[in-house]
Amino acid sequence: MRVKSFNKIILSFIILAGFFFFLVPGATASENSCIDCHKSVTPFTEEQKRFNQIRIEHLERQVTCSLECHEDRIRNLTTTNYQQWSESVHALKGVACDACHGGDPTQATKEKAHANLKNTTDPESPVYYTNVPSTCGKCHPEELANFENSTHYHKLEALQLAPTCTTCHVPHTFTILNPEDFITTCGNCHSVYKKIAPYDIPLKAEDLLGQVNKLKFNIDMTGQDIFWAKKNGTDVTQAQQYADSALNRLQNLAPMWHEFNLTHFEDELDAANKDIRKAEMLVKPTATPTSTPLPKMPGFIGLAGVITLLLVWYLIRKK
Ligand code: HEC
Ligand code: HEC
Ligand code: HEC
Ligand code: HEC
Ligand code: HEC
Repeated sequence: MRVKSFNKIILSFIILAGFFFFLVPGATASENSCIDCHKSVTPFTEEQKRFNQIRIEHLERQVTCSLECHEDRIRNLTTTNYQQWSESVHALKGVACDACHGGDPTQATKEKAHANLKNTTDPESPVYYTNVPSTCGKCHPEELANFENSTHYHKLEALQLAPTCTTCHVPHTFTILNPEDFITTCGNCHSVYKKIAPYDIPLKAEDLLGQVNKLKFNIDMTGQDIFWAKKNGTDVTQAQQYADSALNRLQNLAPMWHEFNLTHFEDELDAANKDIRKAEMLVKPTATPTSTPLPKMPGFIGLAGVITLLLVWYLIRKK
């Protein structure tokens, strides 16, 4: 009797296990074969392999890359395209490999998935650098429209010697440049040595993007001041209008940047700065003598002092 029920348990276990083997792979596989497969494709360009070897040798000697060399550069070259992509805003928003490269993400084998995939160095490929603007422009039409207005775009079309989207938004993290990065990125072409005018562009661009970051900060701060002023019963309608206008201009700045008309950009930036200053003037917390927080400080310190004294006195008495 006992043996029979034991057999039953074993049998149900086997059936259940078999059931899971059938179900689980179907349930966990992503719907995109590019992602599934490339997750495990190791770095394979020659440069990536070389840098990976250097990294491994460093690790064997227990030298951390961040101490001995530029971790970022190594990281960029050794991590797989998948890994860089997986940390990007694109991954968050479900923009997968096939959105830019083409191919068929419903096919499980490499041959079928790659069937209509062009090599990245093929001028027909959607990610060949002169085709990059139109590939990105499918989802970023405003940036594309402004970029098409630029001298850069015309040079890219005519001479193939100008920056494209990926000069500034590097695959596959596709992040936005920091102001400091402009010196090297723009300086690659705009320098007396390379003889591509205007030569002051790297510094000017760095300064402008720095100003944009300051503007973002000021808009945030003013937003907080407006919130508190409203809570205290102040009428903030006018201030809110100025702040909205500044935010609107800020949001237009990023696409406008792509025209590379720095004078136009500077004018809009100035207008946004004026708006936010006006808003700030209206809601700035005024330092009235009656509501300064300073008198509170001695009160708190005094209270803390009395409590400490009482505590010491109590401890001494207890002994
Ligand atoms: C079954 C595995 C597999 C699948 C599925 C797969 N790939 Fe690949 N892919 C590879 C391997 C391995 C390489 C390395 C180069 C080679 O062996 O061709 C590669 C190379 C590439 C390259 C570089 C080609 C070059 O020579 O420049 C791109 C781009 C690419 N894959 C994109 C995709 C896209 C987009 C998809 C989905 C539509 C996809 N892959 C699906 C395995 C796969
Ligand atoms: C938003 C667009 C975009 C997405 C998404 C994207 N790529 Fe790319 N990829 C590019 C561009 C553009 C290039 C060309 C880079 C260059 O010219 O330096 C490129 C180049 C490559 C290359 C060849 C260059 C090299 O490093 O040797 C591979 C391989 C590759 N991508 C694989 C992938 C895989 C795998 C995914 C998904 C995990 C992916 N890409 C997602 C735009 C994209
Ligand atoms: C299939 C649509 C699609 C394509 C193609 C695409 N993107 Fe995006 N991209 C998005 C989405 C969605 C976001 C998320 C932000 C948003 O909603 O605008 C984004 C965000 C970005 C950001 C902002 C990242 C950040 O940190 O805030 C940059 C930069 C960017 N993309 C550059 C590119 C470049 C360069 C290409 C071409 C190589 C490209 N994108 C191609 C859909 C796309
Ligand atoms: C010369 C450098 C450069 C080039 C080329 C460039 N961008 Fe940008 N891009 C930037 C900078 C700088 C910002 C951030 C501006 C800011 O913070 O106001 C940005 C911002 C973005 C954003 C985010 C916008 C947002 O609302 O935050 C997207 C998307 C984008 N670019 C797409 C593109 C596309 C698509 C192309 C090609 C058609 C392109 N970029 C070409 C420098 C560049
Ligand atoms: C790959 C080379 C290259 C890079 C990188 C580059 N530029 Fe240019 N840029 C050019 C060329 C070529 C011209 C046209 C020069 C001429 O007309 O003689 C130009 C012209 C310009 C102009 C003048 C536009 C006009 O309408 O007269 C500005 C502004 C500019 N670039 C800004 C930038 C900024 C900002 C960066 C960096 C984010 C940058 N460039 C990076 C090649 C480049």
